[in-house]
Amino acid sequence: MTPAQQRALNELLPQYGLGSGTMIDPVAVFGRSAPLTLEIGFGNGESLVTLAAREPASDFIGIEVHHPGVGHLLLELERQGIVNVRIFTDDAIEVLKSCIPDHSLDRVLLLFPDPWPKKRHHKRRIVQPEFIRQLARKLVPGGILHMAIDWENYAEHMLEKMSTAPEFRHSAVNGNDSPYPACRPVTKFERRGQRLGHRVWDLVFERLHL
Ligand SMILES: C[S@@+](CC[C@H](N)C(=O)[O-])C[C@H]1O[C@@H](n2cnc3c(N)ncnc32)[C@H](O)[C@@H]1O
Repeated sequence: MTPAQQRALNELLPQYGLGSGTMIDPVAVFGRSAPLTLEIGFGNGESLVTLAAREPASDFIGIEVHHPGVGHLLLELERQGIVNVRIFTDDAIEVLKSCIPDHSLDRVLLLFPDPWPKKRHHKRRIVQPEFIRQLARKLVPGGILHMAIDWENYAEHMLEKMSTAPEFRHSAVNGNDSPYPACRPVTKFERRGQRLGHRVWDLVFERLHL
């Protein structure tokens, strides 16, 4: 953690942070009713900053447990004067369950979650049936779940788990994955993979009106 990131956590988190354990009211949090995107595991927050600056009429909530990354995002929010982002610094599973109202999210982004490549660690992957059920509960009908991953076995894992969720329709147009969506910013983790020659799977699902 750099001294600047530590200062950001001390001074800016009270302004941008949301407390864990309490259900939020997005209209009260942002002072308006607007389309809401949730990014889970935002890393250093590059994608959130880019989207929030590009879409000022939308609101954004990020969840990240890695404090230097949170500090990095806070510094960028301050530098660019961005006001449509709020942050949880707790475990995403808990935040989803306890803090995000049902049918409140228009879009969920899960970009390059920890891959846990070893077979015995696959159960630690965040994409599991209960996680998918939570996302189905939190998204509005017609809402979008956008996952990206640069590890083929995890892409297959995502497709397998999502195939058992009747609330979602896979919106692939080209085999299994969607073409790289121009609307999604490239992330820090993705760039690392690109340097290693990894390909990327963008998996986009629509929450059906069930
Ligand atoms: C591989 S990194 C990718 C970060 C970023 N999305 C990117 O593409 O650069 C995965 C991130 O998810 C965060 N993370 C993993 N599990 C989490 C959880 N249960 N709740 C919140 N964040 C989590 C990690 O701290 C890490 O920053």
